[in-house]
Amino acid sequence: MTLHIFDTVEALSQAAAVLIAAKVLEKPDCVLGLATGSTPVPTYEKLIEMNRAGAIDFSRVTTYNLDEYCRLPEEHEQSYHRFMKDHLFDHINICPENTHVPDGNAADPDAEGIAYDAAIAAAGGIDLQLLGIGRNGHIAFNEPCDRFIWHCHAVKLAESTIQANKRFFDSEDQVPRMALSLGIGSIMAARQVLLLATGEEKAEAVKALVTGDVTPMVPASILRHHPNTVILCDKAAASLL
Ligand code: GLP
Repeated sequence: MTLHIFDTVEALSQAAAVLIAAKVLEKPDCVLGLATGSTPVPTYEKLIEMNRAGAIDFSRVTTYNLDEYCRLPEEHEQSYHRFMKDHLFDHINICPENTHVPDGNAADPDAEGIAYDAAIAAAGGIDLQLLGIGRNGHIAFNEPCDRFIWHCHAVKLAESTIQANKRFFDSEDQVPRMALSLGIGSIMAARQVLLLATGEEKAEAVKALVTGDVTPMVPASILRHHPNTVILCDKAAASLL
């Protein structure tokens, strides 16, 4: 695991975009694992700029997103389907049929999870997995738990996640309580992991990830066992290291 600390979110986002662009240049038909949340937004803006400037071509890239809220219409402005279109897919030359987000409205979430994992495997696995981190150390929606859950699964969101994400909704009771999330297994199977953490509110999670025990109570801590993980933090997120 390597850790880089940046003075600004701008510099961090530029570095993250360059790492993703390098993967696309090296392997034009690569499979990217993508994340939502506010953290990767400036990185996506940089990728859009690079694509518009002709520096990277997404036409052969395939993407799989980490997670989606359950029982939120895909068109809802806070669905992760919508988020990805608004912040990336609608602005780059990616083929919409090559982009994938789990179906949080699937009648049978277990079957959807099995199918999603199988689709990633059939695509050859994830070449580069982009991650944010929750304030409680979650990755995707793998919440603190007594065990690592390996497969794509439906998950009940932790109270701290509901509190953190209510800023995106009109009121707390509109925040979905369930999500469909990639499991720890697919994340660990990615050939490269790129985790971004910005802001003071991530400092405890980053400290636990970098210096604490590997425990399912801090799901991100499993990345200490991943052979190729790069963590990019701004100074605020690294302030407790
Ligand atoms: C969300 C997402 C995660 C994301 C995290 C942090 O709930 N499921 O994939 O990494 O929370 O979000 P943010 O970047 O907005 O702090």
